[in-house]
Amino acid sequence: MASILRDAAHQGSSQSQTNLSKPLAARPRGRGVRGICRVVDLVGPQQQRAASDRQAVLRFKQEDCSEASQSESSAAAEAVSPTLQPEEKPQYNWREQWYPVHYARDVPEGEPQRVWLFDEPIVIARRPGKGPIALLDRCPHRAAALSEGRMTSSGDLQCAYHGWSFNGETGDCTNIPQVSHGGTISGRTCATALPCVERQGLLWVYPSPGAQDPPTDSIVGLPELDEPGWTSDDFIRDFPVDFTLVLENVADPDHGIFAHQTPIFDSFAASAEYPMQVTTEPGRAGPKVIGRVPGVLKMTRKEKDKEKDKAMFGEQGKATDVVATLEFEAPTHVRWSRYDASGKTSFITAFYCSPAGFGKTRFFTRYVRNIAPQFHPPRWLFNIFLNQFLDQDTYLLATQQEVTLAAELAAHMASSASPENGHDSHSSSAAEGSGIPTGATGLTRRRIFCHRSPTDNLLVAMGRWMDETIPLVPNRYRTALQTSAAGVESPPAVWSAPRAEVLDRYSGHTVLCPDSMAAYKTSQRAQSVLSVAAGLGSAAAVSYAAAATTTGSLQAGLLAKCVIACALLAGAAAGAKAVASQFVYVYTRDKQTKDLKRITNFVADK
Ligand code: FES
Ligand SMILES: [Fe+2]
Repeated sequence: MASILRDAAHQGSSQSQTNLSKPLAARPRGRGVRGICRVVDLVGPQQQRAASDRQAVLRFKQEDCSEASQSESSAAAEAVSPTLQPEEKPQYNWREQWYPVHYARDVPEGEPQRVWLFDEPIVIARRPGKGPIALLDRCPHRAAALSEGRMTSSGDLQCAYHGWSFNGETGDCTNIPQVSHGGTISGRTCATALPCVERQGLLWVYPSPGAQDPPTDSIVGLPELDEPGWTSDDFIRDFPVDFTLVLENVADPDHGIFAHQTPIFDSFAASAEYPMQVTTEPGRAGPKVIGRVPGVLKMTRKEKDKEKDKAMFGEQGKATDVVATLEFEAPTHVRWSRYDASGKTSFITAFYCSPAGFGKTRFFTRYVRNIAPQFHPPRWLFNIFLNQFLDQDTYLLATQQEVTLAAELAAHMASSASPENGHDSHSSSAAEGSGIPTGATGLTRRRIFCHRSPTDNLLVAMGRWMDETIPLVPNRYRTALQTSAAGVESPPAVWSAPRAEVLDRYSGHTVLCPDSMAAYKTSQRAQSVLSVAAGLGSAAAVSYAAAATTTGSLQAGLLAKCVIACALLAGAAAGAKAVASQFVYVYTRDKQTKDLKRITNFVADK
């Protein structure tokens, strides 16, 4: 029988209504005594990584919290098996990168919020007149979530339970109200601080406890936003979908016609006639994979335009009059832009897919432009547009992860059982032509996916990097294997949440965006007021008509005006209701079925 396995660590979040707090469902496929032994054996490398992570925490505590460091260092030394060999080859270190966790504008000063990276809860806050802070969301006193607390007038973060206060930059405990100041403050009373900065309107966290002033030039920002005349329109949403699949989705123009029924992605796609040139170069925080194609329509291109395109781009699409460019830059960034012959662009669609956890993404979209930078559409309207767009394919990604994450778990368990075949034994060979090393094991994407489109060349290159590095994501398999440990002899199956949860805009978006929340509440109130007004007006009109008919004094013109006014009020109420509905679950399977019929507007069935 399937059992829903819950990640207890996610309960009680200050944003516990968001999708990020909702666990993937998983069920064990096999049971038995043998299975129990096997699971115990299989957790070895995971413990090793956990110990490695723990050591990072300990390094920090050693510097700032001496008591804690001594007791916990010995614990870590025990946790790390003496048979472990130091890593011989450089591996991607997911902890030593910057990740966007929220838009600064959406985090009011003085109001702590919980965010997630690698299935670890983190409290972030903006301090008036000071920089932002981030700490592991756990009070050292009795483990309550610090995100439930408040900022003191001195800019410290105070736990809501017993009032301990912490310096957000160092984690040092600054006050224990129940004792005289400083009387019992020691290493054990430290919270765990994480580097946190604000750049380009985003709050970035470096999830490596103990890192001292990590370089910020590895932040994968958008150079254009540092130039005058550029601006952005910003969107955020949490998805109960793995960040790997969201990354691939936003680097994949082939799905535009089918999932979104729009040809606007088509100029970024490749074709046999216009192949994609894929190159890899060092990025700021890992490899940068770039796909370039002539920026003309391919699948939806009209016959009459072909000669014109050939004149512009040549027979093989090598010329570069307008080049549509897709870039993936590790660890979480994708950008789309079209460059003219002089290499300039005026509009960039930028994405960040932050790894909130196994099967969880915090997703950012930024429309970045230097066209009419003074103009911004109402953000709530922009959000409705993007939510509608994203709903069209997000549930497809949820179905994908039931396969990819289960395969990852299987590969992880297999490699753990046979360390010589594990992802710790990396191949040094480079993937052909990509410059990206090929993982020796895992190979989830290489095994599962069947790439055939010329556009897929970019995804193939990204997939090689993912196969190599995704098994190294901190805590990657911890939750799924912990929650399914008893009696499991084969990898747990992974089940995504139901459609209504995956596509729930309220928990995934509205609660994160003050502009959308304000629009939602305003439209709800407007609906109520307008409905009441329309009802009262209708009742008055009926009463008037009845009375006036009896007395013979009916003024038809007046009655008509009244009826029109009531109809307008009812229409406005319906409009307000329609707006409010855009901030909750709205994209049903029926709606999708209707949308899919539009595919043939662009490509004929064969
Ligand atoms: S749990 Fe935070 S002060 Fe007690
Ligand atoms: Fe999409």
